Amino acid sequence: MIRYKKLAAAAIANTLEGVSEEDVFGLLEYPPNPEMGDLSMPCFKLSKALRKAPQAIAEGLKEQFSEDAFERAEAVSGYLNLFLDKSKFAVDLIGDILSAGDTYGSADIGKGQSVVIDYSSPNIAKPFHIGHLRSTVIGNALRKIHAFLGFNVVGVNHLGDWGTQFGKLIVAYQKWGNAEKVEAEGITELLRLYVYFHEQAEKEPALEDEARAWFTSLERGDAEAFKLWQWFVDISLKEFEKIYSLLNVSFDAFTGESFYMDKMGPVIERMKELNLLEEDEGTMLVRLDEFNMPPALMLKKDGSSLYHTRDMAAALYRKDTYHFVKSLYVTSYAQNLHFQQLFKVIEKMGYDWADQLIHVPFGQVSLEGASLSTRKGNVVMLEDLLNQAIAKTREIIETKNANLENKDEVARQVGVGAIIFNDLYSNRIKDVVFSWEEALNFDGETGPYAQYTHARACSVLRKAGNGESIDLPAGVTAATLNPALLQNPEAQGVLSELARFGERVEQAMEKLEPSIISRYVIDVCQAFNRFYHGCPILVDDIELRNARLALVKCVQITLRNGLALIGLETPEKI
Ligand code: ARG
Repeated sequence: MIRYKKLAAAAIANTLEGVSEEDVFGLLEYPPNPEMGDLSMPCFKLSKALRKAPQAIAEGLKEQFSEDAFERAEAVSGYLNLFLDKSKFAVDLIGDILSAGDTYGSADIGKGQSVVIDYSSPNIAKPFHIGHLRSTVIGNALRKIHAFLGFNVVGVNHLGDWGTQFGKLIVAYQKWGNAEKVEAEGITELLRLYVYFHEQAEKEPALEDEARAWFTSLERGDAEAFKLWQWFVDISLKEFEKIYSLLNVSFDAFTGESFYMDKMGPVIERMKELNLLEEDEGTMLVRLDEFNMPPALMLKKDGSSLYHTRDMAAALYRKDTYHFVKSLYVTSYAQNLHFQQLFKVIEKMGYDWADQLIHVPFGQVSLEGASLSTRKGNVVMLEDLLNQAIAKTREIIETKNANLENKDEVARQVGVGAIIFNDLYSNRIKDVVFSWEEALNFDGETGPYAQYTHARACSVLRKAGNGESIDLPAGVTAATLNPALLQNPEAQGVLSELARFGERVEQAMEKLEPSIISRYVIDVCQAFNRFYHGCPILVDDIELRNARLALVKCVQITLRNGLALIGLETPEKI
């Protein structure tokens, strides 16, 4: 629809003095129902500038409006309502979708610009929990959305692989650990040691000092500490990789916190030169009183670094290395203050790109009311969750379609899709309660429903052709179809949804909100299912059949592209 909006905006702006095409573009709306046209211009918004009553403006515009893509204009209650030439519109749109295929909906507005996205970023030696899942799926979606719009995207996994917890882990391992057990059980055993450390430290606070001392040794490059640390990292990464491969998610850089080991010194020096660092009872901090924020701690008493220090170094490194226009951090809103402080410190250092740093917060996830703190060991292991979803989907497939060929692969695609979609369906800032019934429901507003609708479109296309391929039968093209056969409300409903895809992608990018795509996908599914139930497709009348088939193909392409943007695969058979 962007194209039609632009055409309409140009035609309207042409007849108005002192109002630009961009202004008009920004004012054009989609009317709530088809009787009010395909695009509408609320003229009261121009009343002041033009010193005229809205209805008079609308009537004036109606008189002068001329643009081939539209068959007519009406002036109603201060609105200029524009009606597309439905035949032209259908042919153009179907032609666009069929020729663009995988790239339908994409654009090049990000060309030549880099965006860094810091997502997932789990902590070494701790399980990948459901909060990291949210970061992973939101970040992955933002990455795909930006790439689809032509940005050069750098996906960064800022692994939590540095910090005092490694001191604790080293102490715990040396006192109570055993190498075979760690090798055999991986993160589970490391976590057990970590939890046990906290239990013991409550009784014996000296353990905390021991742990701090070990971390300080690690920061100073002590060989033994380093060797253990590297081992913990390798073990954890191996497990994280399993999850990334189930989710089909990847990164461009695994630059965790430890990567900034040798990059923090210069940043600290610079802060000192700028007189920003203040000593406070042995620690070093940056005051942020003027922003009503608590100070940002940069160095502990023993001189060791903190989460903040490493994020400072990371922000500078990313700017120098990737020259980003936007650098995103996808984490729970529990870290709001951390990022506000971080960005303010960067600003205080005089970097004019501080406003390109953007925190993308999201709400907490709970699973049937369970709280998800790592320390107490009360965690939901994400791998378990994914495997359960896959197993449950496998059972559903067994009852619904026992003859499906690659049941295991489809169960993975749909099971994992259910979890991802569930996470991306609400505004990211909302807290989510995970429920199996909801997530795996094939009829609700879910991933399986969307994937199933896509598979339904594939099935129609297969039946229309040779039984295998989902390509349109030879000779069915936009140029040869009869658009008059797509004038009924169901077909029009589908076309108008399909036309909005590109805009939804841009909105999702601007608002950093993948749920705009998830919701859009559901809208397309619902419009398509109304069409599918209301308009038989494989009819004998070949002209009607071909027109409807072309529409089905366009739905299939749009659903596949939309679902891919939020990280869902689209099996052709379910
Ligand atoms: N490791 C952190 C956590 O699990 C998230 C890191 C987010 N990224 C960052 N640059 N601070 O909470």
